[in-house]
Parts: sequence; structure tokens; C-alpha cells
Amino acid sequence: MHGKGRIWATLWVTCWATLWVTCWATRAGTLWRNSLAGMLALLAATGSQAQQAFPTRPITIVVPAAAGGPTDTVARLIAEPMGRTLGQQIVVENVGGAGGTIGVGRVAKAAGDGYTLLVWHIGQSTAPALYDNLRYDVFADFDPIGRITDVPMTIVAKKALAAKDIGELIAWLKEKGEQVTYAHAGIGSAAHLCGLMLMSALNIKMNAVVYRGTGPAMNDLVGGQFDMMCDQTTGTANQIKAGTIKGFAATTKSRIPLLSELPTLDESGVQGFEVSAWHALWGPKGLPKEVVEKLTAALQGALQEPVVIERMAGLATVPVAQDLATPAALKAQLELEVAKWGAVIRAAGVKAN
Ligand code: MLT
Repeated sequence: MHGKGRIWATLWVTCWATLWVTCWATRAGTLWRNSLAGMLALLAATGSQAQQAFPTRPITIVVPAAAGGPTDTVARLIAEPMGRTLGQQIVVENVGGAGGTIGVGRVAKAAGDGYTLLVWHIGQSTAPALYDNLRYDVFADFDPIGRITDVPMTIVAKKALAAKDIGELIAWLKEKGEQVTYAHAGIGSAAHLCGLMLMSALNIKMNAVVYRGTGPAMNDLVGGQFDMMCDQTTGTANQIKAGTIKGFAATTKSRIPLLSELPTLDESGVQGFEVSAWHALWGPKGLPKEVVEKLTAALQGALQEPVVIERMAGLATVPVAQDLATPAALKAQLELEVAKWGAVIRAAGVKAN
């Protein structure tokens, strides 16, 4: 812009600025301020009205494993009663693969408005140590809502396997080693972690068959497609009871009441062996406080429903206590478990990539 033009432009801007400031200072300014304050108040009210009215449309719970599996079962158990309490349908969406990190990553990127939630488990605590290029932070990218249930795990095998009890199974595993095929749901999944612990405790290597969840794996185990796996009772209890697969041992420190015929690995000579798949509910980071409170209250309500308690008992698990179905308890659990399994995984020298 040349000489004269620049002078005019500067003059023009200065005039407008002076006028604006003068206005502000005068009565007209007061009007400005009031209407601005009014607009801001309106905005705030609309926002909190939206939060108070939450939910106004269906909610999606993402399960990072295949349909029909243990985690899917847990998510569907709470979805219906929570939806009833919140007055909106809760839809379960299965996004399996990569040990659950694809589905978890989906929620990490979702809007923090309460309409996309995550039901996952111990896998949330193993991923940080296993995946170098994890595309989310299990603490910073999620808001905890509450714990749900701690599902015991069991060592199971195809019906045709000759071994009659855990002692014979362990001897067979040690003899056959890498000829043995075992299934898991990807690096960092509960079945993978339990398999890893068993191999390190027995000092053996087995051949892994990887699925998008232990639901589809169970169908193949019933069909005798592979030898054994370590899976949650929400997936195994009914099959063991039906005799379609063989149950050998429990991974908990004490026997599972519903499957009391199964000895624990600990009492069977694999000292100190203990793992269960604790499950929980998270949202993406940024959930409004009122929304977290509503979701936590709905979760707590669902865990007290007689039908939920009964269904969980039929799958050899129980709801957590009410004071554990809270954001604070879940935050504490995740911190503890990330530290614990991080150390186990680093000691085992296992990496996903
Ligand atoms: C599933 O629902 O398939 C399991 O939770 C997978 C796993 O073993 O982590």
C-alpha cells in the first residue's frame, strides 16, 4: 500500500478504535457489557441444561473384543439396567483387534460428552508396558467412571485332551512345549497375560493362536481346533458345566464357588499364581462432572439389580462393592495395576511391537 493510502488506513483504524473505547466507557458501553454478560450466562445455562438433561440420545459402550466373549457379556449385563435408569438405550459396539488397543483408541478420540463409553479390563493396565507406540494415554485420555466386576480366570482345554487333572496337564505341557497350541485375544489381552504368566511359571513356550476375542476362540476350542487357553469364567463357566470343554484349574488364590471342583493353580504347585480380569467403565477425557455423576450412579444401581447379581453368579463372578464402583476407586486400581503388570511384563521382556 503506497504513502497516502497508508495514512488514510491508519487514520480510519484509529478513529474506529477511539470510538469503540469511548463507547465502552460510556452508557452505550454498559449496554454492550450487559448484553455480553447476558449472552455468556445464556451459553452457560444451555451448557449445564444439556448436562442436566444428559442423556438426550442413545449411548454407545465400546467393547474392544469380539461379540459373545467375556467382556461383551459384562458390558451387556450392565448396559440394559443402566439404560433404564438413564432413560436412553445403551448400545454395545464390538471393536476387537490388536489386544483391544483399536477399540480403546476409538474411545480415547471420542467427544467427552458421555455418549461414547468404554468397558474394558486388566488390558488397560498391560498396554502401556507392551505397546511402544500406543496412540493413547490410559490415564490422560480417559475419565474413570467405576469398576464393575473382577472375573476369575480358568485353565481350560479341548474335550479330547487326554490329561485328567491339572497335574497331568502341567506334565503334558512341559513335555510337549511348543507343540501345544493355546489361544489368546491379542497382545495385552487377559488371555494373553494369563498364558504369559503360565509359560513363565512352568518355564515352557507354547504356540499362540490369536483371535479378536476369546468368544470366537471358545467356539474353536469346543470344536477341538486348538489345545488349551486361559479364559474368564464369563466365557468358560457354562462350557465347563456343559462338558463341552475340560476345566483344569482356577487362577484365583481361592477356589471359585461355582466351579469348586477346580483346584487353584496355587494349590496345584504353581505357587503364588494369581490373576483375574478386573473390568471397569471409562469415558473419554473431558466428561462434565454431572455426566460422570449420573453414569456412576447408574452403574452403581445396575450392580445392585437382583437380575444382574444372579446372572453374574451364574458366570462365577460378582459385582464389585458400591464404593469400588466409583471414579476414585478405578483411578487407584489402574495406577496400582499399571505399576504391577508393567514390572511383570518388563521382567518377561515381552513387547507387542
Ligand atoms: C474377550 O472379551 O474376548 C476377552 O476379554 C479378551 C481377553 O482375553 O482379554
